[in-house]
Amino acid sequence: MLKKLAISAVAALTLSAGGAMAAGGAGHIEDVAFSFEGPFGKFDQMQLQRGLQVYTEVCSACHGLKYVPIRTLADDGGPHLPEDQVRAYAAQMEIFDPELDDFRPRKAADFFPESGLETAPDLSLMAKARAGFHGPQGTGINQLVKGMGGAEYIYSILTGYTGKEKEQAGTTFYENTAFPGGWISMAPPLEDDAVEYADGHSTTAHHMAEDVSAFLMWTAEPKMMDRQHAGFVAVLFLTILSVLLYLTNKRLWAPVKRAAKES
Ligand code: HEC
Repeated sequence: MLKKLAISAVAALTLSAGGAMAAGGAGHIEDVAFSFEGPFGKFDQMQLQRGLQVYTEVCSACHGLKYVPIRTLADDGGPHLPEDQVRAYAAQMEIFDPELDDFRPRKAADFFPESGLETAPDLSLMAKARAGFHGPQGTGINQLVKGMGGAEYIYSILTGYTGKEKEQAGTTFYENTAFPGGWISMAPPLEDDAVEYADGHSTTAHHMAEDVSAFLMWTAEPKMMDRQHAGFVAVLFLTILSVLLYLTNKRLWAPVKRAAKES
């Protein structure tokens, strides 16, 4: 019975993998060794700060982060900016206040603005929304084995341009090896040295793509580290519990076994 089940499961997996490949839909995703992978993974605070800078100076021209409260930039485990910097950052962005019936500078308690360009999707949860690619039909195999997820997807989109363009119904599309279907309407947003980092980190397009992808992983899952650690503790606890139960079991039955041997 079990064997039959296993065989049909394997068959289903291979079939669906074949199906996905035949459709030619899924793009190519590069694996990146991000600091936040694995049970002991951690967001790299400096990387998140650099990613915020790339987001602010490049991506925010079109995209929004409307589900992210600005104050979380000060959170421990996140970019961890000083409170006064967070307030100053918020104040650069205006918001329409219905009570004042006018625009005012944002406060730390406000959210990031939404997308300024209608066709550009909000990026708050993008790293989670696009995590379904890994493995055949989103079985999560690549995530399990290589720790690949939405951050890798975003990185691969940003670095996957081939340089080819085409016009279709008045819109320009750019060939991209990671985007499902192969053509995306977002022009390549990053070129080398698009920003200047305060910490002297390299500003090749690839490095900036890594940083902004890590930042967008954090906006989508700011509590990922807590969750991973809780999972690790749970597994450790269950392991210890199993060992104790095994030993208790042995001990409980020891007299019975001895009696059986002696008789
Ligand atoms: C000039 C405007 C513009 C800029 C700047 C821009 N984008 Fe985009 N982006 C778009 C548009 C438009 C789309 C929708 C593309 C499509 O669906 O064909 C998009 C789509 C995306 C997607 C979604 C792909 C998907 O799977 O649907 C991601 C991720 C993304 N952008 C990330 C970024 C990042 C990160 C930056 C900054 C480095 C950035 N974008 C800068 C216009 C822009």
